[in-house]
Amino acid sequence: MRIPQAFTLIIFGGTGDLSHRKLFPALFELYQQKRLPAQFRIMGLGRKNFTDEIYRAQISDSLKQDIESPSEHKAFEGFLGLIHYQSLDVAQKAGFLKLQERILSFPSEVQNNLLFYLATAPDFFAPVARELANLKLAQETPNQSWRRIILEKPFGTDLKSAEQLNTELLTCFQEHQIYRIDHYLGKESVQNILAFRFANGLFLPLWNRRHIHRVEVTAAESLGVEDRGGYYDNSGALRDMIQNHLLQLLAVIAMEPPNHFDADSIRDEKAKVLKALRPIQGSEIHDQVIRGQYISSKIRGEQVPGYREEINVAPQSTRETFVAMKAFIDNERWQGVPFYIRTGKRLPTRVSEVVIHFNGPGHKLIQESSGEHVGENILVLRIQPDEGVLLKFGLKVPGAGFKISPVGMDFHYSDLVEDELPEAYERLILDALVGDDTLYARADALQAAWRFVDPILEYWRDHPNTKLYGYPAGTWGPPETLSLFEGSEEDWRYPCKNLSSDDSYCEL
Ligand code: BG6
Repeated sequence: MRIPQAFTLIIFGGTGDLSHRKLFPALFELYQQKRLPAQFRIMGLGRKNFTDEIYRAQISDSLKQDIESPSEHKAFEGFLGLIHYQSLDVAQKAGFLKLQERILSFPSEVQNNLLFYLATAPDFFAPVARELANLKLAQETPNQSWRRIILEKPFGTDLKSAEQLNTELLTCFQEHQIYRIDHYLGKESVQNILAFRFANGLFLPLWNRRHIHRVEVTAAESLGVEDRGGYYDNSGALRDMIQNHLLQLLAVIAMEPPNHFDADSIRDEKAKVLKALRPIQGSEIHDQVIRGQYISSKIRGEQVPGYREEINVAPQSTRETFVAMKAFIDNERWQGVPFYIRTGKRLPTRVSEVVIHFNGPGHKLIQESSGEHVGENILVLRIQPDEGVLLKFGLKVPGAGFKISPVGMDFHYSDLVEDELPEAYERLILDALVGDDTLYARADALQAAWRFVDPILEYWRDHPNTKLYGYPAGTWGPPETLSLFEGSEEDWRYPCKNLSSDDSYCEL
């Protein structure tokens, strides 16, 4: 078990939603599992003037529903005692000096190793890093102390801003100290794709253009933009989901086997995939990228607002809440294999999965004697919910004749582990504390992803008349996405909540 050295974790944005919903629950879980060292401190930072006690009471409020047994209560009391609060206005130097003083008031063991977590708006990333560097809080002493910084997404809003941010960060921290988080990479089921691909001799030889016909990557969400309209209306689905989570996922699916199973080798291979993405430019964008926006509709009897009616969204907004696209990777393994990527808000259900479509049976005889089209084999790698793997193949229907029907063989993680799978943030925070950046996005990979989406964003900006399809909330997006399959009979998989449900019983 990897136990980090004594540390102080300093959270900028410590009063924000992410801290309450994800970071503190993950930290408490690690604490309960005894994955944290005997000595540590957590300090939340925010603009408001709270005492440690008020802050602890707020953390307690957001976590209390998960704390049931007396032993959990006891552990929680101990955990709360290690949490502190400091008010800080990022624009004022004085706050950083106070922060430094505060760290120096902690036991000496926890002062050496500092992890700064920037759960703030991205505009603050560079100014915070600069102040930390000015106070020498970014400076490490080899073999004696470490200093690391975690940056939440979005890392830039386009290639230029991402490059600029990176350059600025590198004047304050060294690359090995910078952790760019992409929480998809911390999901157990995403890590499992690596295990599935490289630990199974059965699939290794099949994982290429000779055997794979197409790949689908879907991240569907049933919720709308909720209270994040202000952020989302400047972002949109392409920036919010595809540039980061889905392209990182695509890199894991498509990468070559790494020479070693270490951070650099894995990240090298992932970056190569993103650099090999074929740019989609100019008029190709009409054919290969479909954008949509949800409109008001009834979902299970309840009328939900359209995107333009959401709080903090411009009434005439043309921001996309849905994107479906066809991408190609120009390398020997994937030449000519389309990767269909789809994401959207207010779709029928929350589900993320990868579908590998293997080539169909070239054997005409079987198709003719069965009297129907025999489906190709598909492999579904389910990211969430009902995490697992499903393989579909054709078998003979019992009885006379030779009718083939598709059947499924499935594995559900819930059969393997009693508890729920660990939250991505547990894994990622622990990794940063022990200095393992394998599951964090590297600058070159992130920039390659921006290089791929930038021309599309620019085209939409410069051609505002590019079609933006409205789709009723609760549907699978605009039907026009079928045009990506260019008139063939191919279609998307329309997944249910349960990995192996077929269309006859689909719980959403
Ligand atoms: C975030 C996006 O990065 O990922 C959100 O900003 C999105 O808009 C979320 O809802 C999806 O994450 P998950 O883990 O729920 O699939």
